[in-house]
Amino acid sequence: MKRSSLINLLSFATIVLLFSACLSKDNFTGREYMPDMAHSIAYEANQNTYYLFNHWGSKEDYQKFVQPRTPQDGTVAFGRSKEAVRSNSPLTYPRYAFANTEEDRTKATEMITSNPLKPTDKADFDKVLAQGKELYEIYCVSCHGKAGDGNGKLYELGVYPAAPANFLSDQFLTSNDGRFYHAIMYGKNVMLSHADKLSHDERWAVIHYIRSLQGAKTGVEYSLELANGQKVNKPENKEGEDKKDAAKVEKKDDKMPKK
Ligand code: HEC
Repeated sequence: MKRSSLINLLSFATIVLLFSACLSKDNFTGREYMPDMAHSIAYEANQNTYYLFNHWGSKEDYQKFVQPRTPQDGTVAFGRSKEAVRSNSPLTYPRYAFANTEEDRTKATEMITSNPLKPTDKADFDKVLAQGKELYEIYCVSCHGKAGDGNGKLYELGVYPAAPANFLSDQFLTSNDGRFYHAIMYGKNVMLSHADKLSHDERWAVIHYIRSLQGAKTGVEYSLELANGQKVNKPENKEGEDKKDAAKVEKKDDKMPKK
């Protein structure tokens, strides 16, 4: 072996020996060789990682690094800011008034009778529908299908065993909006909650879009007026409406169980 490499080896061994003598024991924390390799310079959020061998600033500097920063101008806390929420229904905002039970599903369906996200004009209506469509096609379409008929790709391919709800069936055509909102909040059986995927107004935009899919099925085009709570089946001409309503009452009576 060459003399120089022998010296190198010996000095390396000495260094190793020296530092192995600095290991921590009991109350002694030990000495560290090149501490910045063991302790990252990266700041941990909300965690004061200042330590003895920190060479990048004083204790006070470090304390400052770990404080929460002031958010950018215009930052909106998810689901928190009133300004970020246009629609405002005491049943659904700021907190949802119903619990994740079948009893409350029924209550929500009965009590939430209209969509609080009311478009102001045609342009706004188009915007809300476009947003609803986009979100629907991200979060719901794989199961409920493009047309809302429950024949999404996952179900069609047999990957997903449970039949997703068919929004074009009678029970959903006639249901109040609450049934949809509740399903988005908590899911149902194998459908999981989507409350964390969609903000308050986004959920309502999706429901507007589902209504427009239903309109495409029934032939009653979903319009600004319908989106603002005007009931379906209300013809312009008053007389017709009265006649229709009267006819409905008669029909209803027919269906009444005979006592
Ligand atoms: C992974 C598949 C899947 C996705 C994604 C999904 N659903 Fe569902 N959904 C289902 C299934 C399955 C049911 C039927 C549950 C049952 O009745 O047991 C259902 C039921 C429903 C119901 C009916 C609840 C009731 O009261 O009977 C509504 C409304 C609904 N989903 C809305 C949505 C909306 C809105 C989205 C998107 C934000 C969505 N779902 C995303 C699978 C899904």
